[in-house]
Amino acid sequence: MGKSQISIGLLGFGNVGSAFVNLLESQKSVIFAKTGLELVVTHVAVNDLSKDRLGLDAQTLLTDKAHEITVDPEVDLVVELMGGLLPAKDVVEAALQSGKPVITANKELLSKEGKYLFSLAAEREVDLLFEAAVAGGVPLIRVLRESLLGEPVEKIMGIVNGTTNYILSQMEEKAMPYNEALQEAQRLGYAESDPTADVGGQDAASKAAIIAMVAFGANVSLSDVRFEGIENIKSVDIAFAKRAGCTIKLLAMVSKHGDELEVQVYPAMLPKGHPLSAVRDSFNAVFVEGEALDSLMLFGRGAGGMPTASAVLGDVIDAAINLSKETYRDMGDLNEISLLQGGEQKSAYYVSVQVADEPGVLATVASVFGENDISIQTMEQEGMEKEARLVFITHEAEESSLEGVLTQLSKLSCVEKLGTVIRVLEA
Ligand code: HSE
Repeated sequence: MGKSQISIGLLGFGNVGSAFVNLLESQKSVIFAKTGLELVVTHVAVNDLSKDRLGLDAQTLLTDKAHEITVDPEVDLVVELMGGLLPAKDVVEAALQSGKPVITANKELLSKEGKYLFSLAAEREVDLLFEAAVAGGVPLIRVLRESLLGEPVEKIMGIVNGTTNYILSQMEEKAMPYNEALQEAQRLGYAESDPTADVGGQDAASKAAIIAMVAFGANVSLSDVRFEGIENIKSVDIAFAKRAGCTIKLLAMVSKHGDELEVQVYPAMLPKGHPLSAVRDSFNAVFVEGEALDSLMLFGRGAGGMPTASAVLGDVIDAAINLSKETYRDMGDLNEISLLQGGEQKSAYYVSVQVADEPGVLATVASVFGENDISIQTMEQEGMEKEARLVFITHEAEESSLEGVLTQLSKLSCVEKLGTVIRVLEA
């Protein structure tokens, strides 16, 4: 039996770091009663030593040198909540090198350096746990690594970015302009310090890469993930989706297609009958389909200090129990799996085109779809004269054929502007 008091070195004391300290403090006696372990934050690394650090015990050692904590023999376990690639990579690497388990919420780090860090943790025989890196307080990683370890998982579809889900929900429900909804999401603490990672899809893409590693043992990094964000979605698209009985969601899609794996992020129109379409506000949800399991949905708060701290604390307790039993659990090997390329993928599409409102225009535009072997499911004109917009929903088509349509349309003199193009999924 190892130690019963576990000393925690916390790197980063922002929104999540301070929530973690508060949560641990309030749960300390419960954790002790259930595990026999006393968890104490003994060291904290911050950027600016001159700021007040409310909630920290007077005994806690504060430093602005994170690296010192990672090699301090008094620290048993390191919690990295700094975010970003550097210097997080260096300090996580140093902690693992010195044989300390690491808990991190850092999706950017794992989606770029996951393979290396997981193998380093395995080599040093320590835990590297990361529940909070994907979907905040939703315990997806533990479910995938433990409950579904033997499940032939086929598809994972997730709303894994709270900021964009909040923005899309506000645009749909309150007709709120995009910028106002984004500012509100920032004020509520959902967004990254640079929200372009949220609205541009990169934050969800990092999470998709991590899901692919955990669920499919695939060596996927952020640079392998094709992603689009929600910046081009207009109020007219949202209104159209609503009339068509759909809602627009930013989805992380990790799915098996024979021997290939699709790992992608894109906005999609989801019919109201799909369980993910009901996920509103800043909530996250992940829909898993498996051969034996059929389907399963996990739902909860994907962003914000306390929900993320809850996931961090769960990992800290797991790692502390493992430390006390002198054991750990590694991620296993990550394998090279071929990724489905863009052009090969099939989907139905919503295509909106701003046109001149003149005789023959509809026939000209529609014929371009036929020429590219794409069948049209529905078509309607919205607005008139300068406001005229043709909206098509296609039958399932290859992405490369759709690109052919868009290129041809952009060259037509009757087409004033190509509007939004969004995948349309089935319920
Ligand atoms: N910015 C992220 C989101 C939070 O909006 O979901 C944690 O990844």
